[in-house]
Amino acid sequence: MQKIIILDFGSQTTQLIGRRVRELGTFCEILPYDKFPSDDPDIIGVILSGSPLSVYAQDAFRPDLSGIIGKYPVLGICYGAQLLSYTYGGKVESAGTREYGRASLSYVNEDCPLFKFIAKDSQVWMSHGDSITAIPDGYRLVASTPSVKYAAFECETAPVWGVQFHPEVEHTLIGRQLLQNFVIDICGSRREWTADSFIEKTVAELREQLGDDKVVLGLSGGVDSSVAAVLLNKAIGSNLNCIFVNHGLLRKDEFENVMRDYRGLGLNVKGVDASERFFEDLKGVSEPERKRKIIGADFIKVFDAEASAIPGVKWLAQGTIYPDRIESKNITGKVIKSHHNVGGLPETMKLRLCEPLKWLFKDEVREVGRRLGMPHMLIERHPFPGPGLAVRIIGDITPEKVATLQEADAIFIDALREWKLYDKVWQAGVILLADRSVGVMGDERTFESAVALRAVTSTDAMTADWADLPREFLSKVSNDIINKVKGVNRVCYDISSKPPATIEWE
Ligand code: XMP
Repeated sequence: MQKIIILDFGSQTTQLIGRRVRELGTFCEILPYDKFPSDDPDIIGVILSGSPLSVYAQDAFRPDLSGIIGKYPVLGICYGAQLLSYTYGGKVESAGTREYGRASLSYVNEDCPLFKFIAKDSQVWMSHGDSITAIPDGYRLVASTPSVKYAAFECETAPVWGVQFHPEVEHTLIGRQLLQNFVIDICGSRREWTADSFIEKTVAELREQLGDDKVVLGLSGGVDSSVAAVLLNKAIGSNLNCIFVNHGLLRKDEFENVMRDYRGLGLNVKGVDASERFFEDLKGVSEPERKRKIIGADFIKVFDAEASAIPGVKWLAQGTIYPDRIESKNITGKVIKSHHNVGGLPETMKLRLCEPLKWLFKDEVREVGRRLGMPHMLIERHPFPGPGLAVRIIGDITPEKVATLQEADAIFIDALREWKLYDKVWQAGVILLADRSVGVMGDERTFESAVALRAVTSTDAMTADWADLPREFLSKVSNDIINKVKGVNRVCYDISSKPPATIEWE
């Protein structure tokens, strides 16, 4: 299948470039800047990403581009454009102050194929501390903004373009058109990448790879493991054995509801209620990392025991998705991995790993799920952490606290659905705080728990903003929680963004 290679120089928006290319029906791979696969016949073009570095700095990333330039169409974005300019004899200098925000493009060269159908004075988004002050010989200027002369340029002798702005972000209103011009017209993508083609190809590959082997998969109720299961079910039917462990820290009625959905999808699934064991092992433990470790270890033990009881299992399937696997090198050269997992694969299981969603971004997983006919409730649900409500109870965990939190959480989530706000936020939940405070109920003084509501908007959970929910909505949820949930007399709304806060409180 045709593909675009995106070389990653460490920008925060590299994954966004990947998603935009996929939205154009074109497969792409994001690779570290120095890992260009020289012998892949499917490559039709290359994009060089942005970076927090200065291209002239001693430790900047400056890979050898000679195997790329002239061989494939190349689009350099921000640092990528600066790298092209710097490498071939242009000049890049500090802009003095960082230019950040909207700017308006004007053209010098109107025939540039990268700018086909893009009107004059289009809005673009800039975010850079360095500027290109001269382009190499053999390159020509294409577009400028009032403060950036070389906002876009092209090579006269090879299919190479550079843009100082970021076409991948929403604020660049012409970004989609520009990327479409590059990927479809210039690189010649046949738009082979669709949810249907992915399903067809993956089901055929899974049949080939797995034959009559048995596979075990741990379901979590989340989107990724559920879609992986339905895809595998389509490929190998009852040879897929799903296990859904209830650690007692799920949302209210979640275990029963999700089991019902799974059975409705025809999955061969076993539900295991291990709540008591988890509660027992968590008794008296307040330290967040220890709670996580206990849950992870218990989960593996329960899962391992169940999986081992299935005769002849050879494979462990997981719902790993592409962002979990993308390796980015940060400015210190260390590999960043930002992915939480409930636990690792126990060495003793000696199972081979099957990851059918390993090439998909989250929105693609959802689209595949929709095309597989999965219910809206399973596909559009918010992310939920593997250790469940344990990371939303500050201090030690007891079944009573979990029950209290489940009630408050259900009121919040049901209200979000009722007010049609659920799909507008990335993730929402309630946190049960450790301290109690004084309140008054009727004529009685109370001394009860406080809860915090958390709702955020985000695109990938790496950064997030608190959701600006309507005042009337928050007021109704607060009243309902205080009136209906025994033991809670105070409701707060968390208005911290990530960073510096995180989504979960722990
Ligand atoms: P934070 O709190 O780090 O969360 O901003 C980012 C995203 O990851 C989820 N999360 C987890 N998911 N196991 C998971 O499967 C975990 O241990 C875990 N901790 C946090 C969190 O809900 C948010 O979506």
